[in-house]
Amino acid sequence: MDRNRREFVKTAVVATAGIALADALPAASKPKPMKILILGGTAFLGPQIVEAAQARGHVLTLFNRGKTNPGLFPDIEKLHGDRDGDLKSLEGRKWDAVVDTSGFVPRIVSMSATLLAPNVNQYVFISTISVFGEGLKPGTAEDGPLATMPDPSNEEVMKNYGALKALCEKAVDKEMPGRAWIVRPGLIVGPGDKSDRYTYWPVRVARGGEVLAPGDGKDPVQYIDVRDLAAWIVLGVERDLTGTYNATGPAKALTMKAMLDGIKKGVGGDAKFTWVSTEFLEKEKVSPWSDLPVWVPSQDGTEGFTQISCAKALAAGLAFRSPAVTAKDTFAWFKTLPVDRRGKLLAGISADREKELLAAWHAATAK
Ligand SMILES: NC(=O)c1ccc[n+]([C@@H]2O[C@H](COP(=O)([O-])OP(=O)(O)OC[C@H]3O[C@@H](n4cnc5c(N)ncnc54)[C@H](OP(=O)(O)O)[C@@H]3O)[C@@H](O)[C@H]2O)c1
Repeated sequence: MDRNRREFVKTAVVATAGIALADALPAASKPKPMKILILGGTAFLGPQIVEAAQARGHVLTLFNRGKTNPGLFPDIEKLHGDRDGDLKSLEGRKWDAVVDTSGFVPRIVSMSATLLAPNVNQYVFISTISVFGEGLKPGTAEDGPLATMPDPSNEEVMKNYGALKALCEKAVDKEMPGRAWIVRPGLIVGPGDKSDRYTYWPVRVARGGEVLAPGDGKDPVQYIDVRDLAAWIVLGVERDLTGTYNATGPAKALTMKAMLDGIKKGVGGDAKFTWVSTEFLEKEKVSPWSDLPVWVPSQDGTEGFTQISCAKALAAGLAFRSPAVTAKDTFAWFKTLPVDRRGKLLAGISADREKELLAAWHAATAK
């Protein structure tokens, strides 16, 4: 694997049509209210779980340090503490389920699972598809080979994200056998995603003109709208799901071209895509995933990463809104950010670099 693709795998692990599920559930099917604890709840996925759970009539408690967005959800019970050693505020309390969105180190996840095992029925652990090792085969299901690390006591999350998450999964299962639900999302996108790892595209396409599009348009892509994931997590709590589920989308294979066409449909404008070959971009040292987000060229052992099977989750109710709706809503959210933040996208190439690359591509292909 060359540097660019290795870089992609590294970055991917550190950072990862139809009616949306929450909208599709008729009000009449509202369940008996449940008490749900979220370990976290205030950054990106957490708030969407809170909103989806509230819409279904559930009662929430959030446990966190009170550092991230402390003003969010003033009417919800908050317990403060630190996952690494200060769990006192969780003692002696009972919930139907706990959703752990903030577990990255097995030792720490094990502490909360041990403490909560007698006091919750179900432990939902938000893992990641980065638990899979390199060289994945397309269509890999939940039983695919997992990433490992030479020293499992090494707690450097940035370096060992996937392997540590795999060990966290095991830790939860060990403390709560038969009562753990492991959810492995792919790249989570949508309103509220501060990483810009997908947002680059709606923003770029909305700006219009000639847009550098990577590859030949046929490379498969996978991602999941945070709201679809959150709605399904709440459904899985209601249904007391257990076991391990890959959770990325969409339901049917999506290519880079179909994604960009969907984004254009969602955000409008006059964008015209110029497809630039993978080889050319490699030569120009343009990195898949970080420089041109979501995109992973389908070659040399990375193709499985964007073709993970989510058949099990689909059969268990995971549903997706269309690429156009995700793009439209993400762009609408992006426009609410302060002007200086909007000027500094955290992923993707700059307008100048794109112009330079397009000029070089046209010069190379005109010969
Ligand atoms: N983003 C992706 O593309 C992607 C892809 C696959 C999987 N995932 C997984 O999805 C999850 C999403 O995370 P999120 O950040 O969006 O979740 P979140 O629940 O919205 O936010 C993280 C929460 O954890 C709390 N927290 C952090 N450190 C803590 C500590 N030491 N003790 C107690 N609370 C702590 C934060 O609050 P305080 O800072 O106030 O403590 C915050 O409320 C992660 O597990 C990630 O691995 C993400």
